[in-house]
Amino acid sequence: MLQALKNSIKTNLKGDYKSVDKRLSTQVDKLVVLFYRLIGRSWIDYYADRLDANAGKDLGDDYLDGANVHLQYLQAHGLTPDHVMLDYGCGWLRTGGEAIRFLKPGHYFGVDISAERIKAGCERLVAEGIDPANFEVHPVRDCLLREVAGQKFDTVWANSVFSHMPGDDISAMLAALRPLLAIDGQFVFNFVRADRPMIKSVKSFSYEVEEMRALCEAEGYAFELLHDWDYTTHQMARVVAA
Ligand SMILES: C[S@@+](CC[C@H](N)C(=O)[O-])C[C@H]1O[C@@H](n2cnc3c(N)ncnc32)[C@H](O)[C@@H]1O
Repeated sequence: MLQALKNSIKTNLKGDYKSVDKRLSTQVDKLVVLFYRLIGRSWIDYYADRLDANAGKDLGDDYLDGANVHLQYLQAHGLTPDHVMLDYGCGWLRTGGEAIRFLKPGHYFGVDISAERIKAGCERLVAEGIDPANFEVHPVRDCLLREVAGQKFDTVWANSVFSHMPGDDISAMLAALRPLLAIDGQFVFNFVRADRPMIKSVKSFSYEVEEMRALCEAEGYAFELLHDWDYTTHQMARVVAA
């Protein structure tokens, strides 16, 4: 009887979170985000500070190996060594390492809101013998892409980035990217579909397919879903200039 009562209280406290702890820590995170907003700072400022704090963690071989899959996927979708590529939300330059080796020197550009992840990624690549003159990376604090103004990108890639971005930021990024896309340029990205289960947390954003399509079409793109990406939660998609 007592145990049943305890279980029932726990179930109610847990709600649709994984655990009571997870629910509590998500509420604390929400308060921190609110605090950032009250002092005039943005979601990006909050999230960048959070990511910078753990940028030194050990990535593990499995995580880094995922970059092969990314490169092969992009090659299957037309990436050639001549392409100029933007890796949006490049993180620790996981995909970057593979792409820089594949592309002609100077053809890889990466941007990310976490300066510390970029720094750690660059250190790893240089230790692996990649010449830092062969690629360009920029820490950013908004989605306006001013750091790469004037470039024309053939392939733009964002893996597991829109799943951490509010819709307004996605729209701003798409608008900023549009004039930077080369003729025949493509933007391949994935997002978490709202009709699939996801871990509830303050840093997770999911979108209905039609919602994502509308965001893209509003910024002048033709949107298509790609069904050849084997991943349980992220839906791959591609946009080109409409
Ligand atoms: C899950 S990680 C993926 C990193 C990388 N794309 C990969 O697959 O290895 C998501 C990355 O997106 C970056 N990010 C989140 N919001 C961003 C934004 N608005 N602009 C640029 N980067 C962003 C984060 O800093 C983080 O490094």
